[in-house]
Amino acid sequence: MSVSETMMPYSLEGFLEEAEIQQVIRSIDAYKQSVDPKKLEAGATGYTIHNSENLSVKEIINVYEPAGRLDVNWQQIPRDIVEIMERAFFRRIEDVRRAFPTAYGPYGYTYVEYKPGQFFTAHIDGVSRAQVSGFGVTLSNDFEGGEFSVETCGSGRLWARDGEERLINAPGHDAQSEWYRKVPRTKWTTRPVKGNAIFYGSGLTHSSQPVTKGILRKVLAFVRSY
Ligand SMILES: [Fe+2]
Repeated sequence: MSVSETMMPYSLEGFLEEAEIQQVIRSIDAYKQSVDPKKLEAGATGYTIHNSENLSVKEIINVYEPAGRLDVNWQQIPRDIVEIMERAFFRRIEDVRRAFPTAYGPYGYTYVEYKPGQFFTAHIDGVSRAQVSGFGVTLSNDFEGGEFSVETCGSGRLWARDGEERLINAPGHDAQSEWYRKVPRTKWTTRPVKGNAIFYGSGLTHSSQPVTKGILRKVLAFVRSY
């Protein structure tokens, strides 16, 4: 993994085909019917995809998704959705590797829904040896709001060195930390489009606007690096 890969925003238009989107939606809707709706709220299973030093799962949710969201993480997500996403990813592996040359494969699939008022706050997932990027695939067009942003920033304040002198993101790269909220950044915003995958390198700040109408449905995953 090289650090420049982790600062890459990227997109794969038409990542999922219409029939695949319909199957993902059928499968996730069947899963939602089969479980207690309370178990679908972010953090309800005692797990969140975000990390934050010294915070409980509930506190992390308050920092990252303060208005909540529906969240089916990789332990629960139906197997056929993983298979569809993997097939789609490897169909485009050449296109992925033009931007992320060390991309090995996807992992950590999470299905999310944002209802009106729901959004996620600015944060960096964090550069690590194993992870080069995150990506989200939009499953619907019948919503308003929910714009997705990446924020570039040339400040060295975002970076630190680990024990082996490798560049990592400075601790506290999320909305709970004052220095991170205040560091000047340049924001680039797009409306999520059904079927498209938006990639955000793991060293990039990303955030979203609240959904204002309808429901924004997405599958998220990370890209492992070799
Ligand atoms: Fe993230």
